[in-house]
Amino acid sequence: MKDFQVYLKEKTDFFETELKKELKELSYPETIAKGMEYAILNGGKRLRPFLLFATLELLNQNIEKGVKSAIALEMIHSYSLVHDDLPALDNDDYRRGKLTTHKVFGEAEGILIGDSLLTYAFYVFSQKNLELLSSKQIVNIISKTSEYAGINGMIGGQMIDIESENKKIDLETLKYIHSHKTGKLIKLPIEIACIIANVEKDKKEVLEEYANLIGLAFQVKDDILDVEGTFEDLGKPVGSDVDLHKATYPSILGMEESKKILNNTVEKAKEIIKNKFGDEKGKVGIGLGKANGVPDAIRKAIANAKKNMITVSLKGGTLPHDQIGKYNATSVLLKPASKGTGVIAGSATRELLELAGVTDVLTKIRGSKNKDNVARATLDGLKKLRSLEEVARLRGKSVEEILG
Ligand code: IPE
Ligand code: IPE
Ligand code: MG
Ligand code: MG
Ligand code: MG
Repeated sequence: MKDFQVYLKEKTDFFETELKKELKELSYPETIAKGMEYAILNGGKRLRPFLLFATLELLNQNIEKGVKSAIALEMIHSYSLVHDDLPALDNDDYRRGKLTTHKVFGEAEGILIGDSLLTYAFYVFSQKNLELLSSKQIVNIISKTSEYAGINGMIGGQMIDIESENKKIDLETLKYIHSHKTGKLIKLPIEIACIIANVEKDKKEVLEEYANLIGLAFQVKDDILDVEGTFEDLGKPVGSDVDLHKATYPSILGMEESKKILNNTVEKAKEIIKNKFGDEKGKVGIGLGKANGVPDAIRKAIANAKKNMITVSLKGGTLPHDQIGKYNATSVLLKPASKGTGVIAGSATRELLELAGVTDVLTKIRGSKNKDNVARATLDGLKKLRSLEEVARLRGKSVEEILG
């Protein structure tokens, strides 16, 4: 698997380029166009677009299909920040390392700029998705988004957040605030990816459970950082929760307990993904398929290799191209296409495997009817396969990291 930071940057760079293209279409009234740009460009971590793209890839989908939804979603998130910072709400002067939108453009303008980001998002969801998704998918995405951004989502959470200032609230209410004001918009990209991928029910349920957990974890971390973070790192003021007597995890449960909850929540989320998708991520297995007459010695060698190789087991005679990305494989032993005929691994296949980060592609005996050829090629292939330990060493990682 590619280094996470590289993967993250690749996805967020892609998003940034597409977002800028989208914003170019807006020019008048200038204050609104400039204000929208100011509020959404530069400095955001782009967590929600990243989650959308990463989930799409987990589900073997092209991220292009999600690009307009990611832009629309980030518009809604940015609007929520513009309004959250207004004097009537948290009254903050800095966001993403710059003055807040209302500080630069004025308060009334800030309200309108936020409104515009929110409403334009629905134009992007509907109009700009027409060539990428079916009408049914678009309706489902809009329906989820309006649910999660409104009274049963972010706004609901924001309202109880404000109402709870200067009050002692119970844990249930605190959980409601966090899961709604933040959790719902973090859950949303994962659910949008499920809609785009037409995912089966069982996978969807697992991903939703995962999304609930990281949505909660994210706001707990935000609360912790409001106490322990720095302005330089966060790009927004610290200590504003205490100033406003906000109900937060540290203020209600204490710092130590909050950190424990954060760690447990993240661990649980990781576990859920590993349990459901882990087997597809570091699959061990060599597909010899229907190759008959493989000598015992080779069977033994394969059994041995299985113990410490990451390989991809290919079903069917040809490589399922669209599935390559999900395998975290470093070596591949291709399966013979049909009974005793060796392997068909054309250059396109090889190229795709290389693109997917597979370093060794083995055996190519096109059309051979001779089982000895298959056997010999298999043996050659086995010699070329790298052990997990070796792959780990070459990549400067532990075996666990490679598998995980
Ligand atoms: C900040 O969200 C508001 C919360 C929901 C805690 P982010 O931390 O994702 O903000 P940006 O987009 O990176 O600025
Ligand atoms: C989440 O809560 C804000 C939104 C729903 C926009 P906070 O008020 O804690 O977010 P920050 O700390 O200002 O980013
Ligand atoms: Mg707030
Ligand atoms: Mg705030
Ligand atoms: Mg905060």
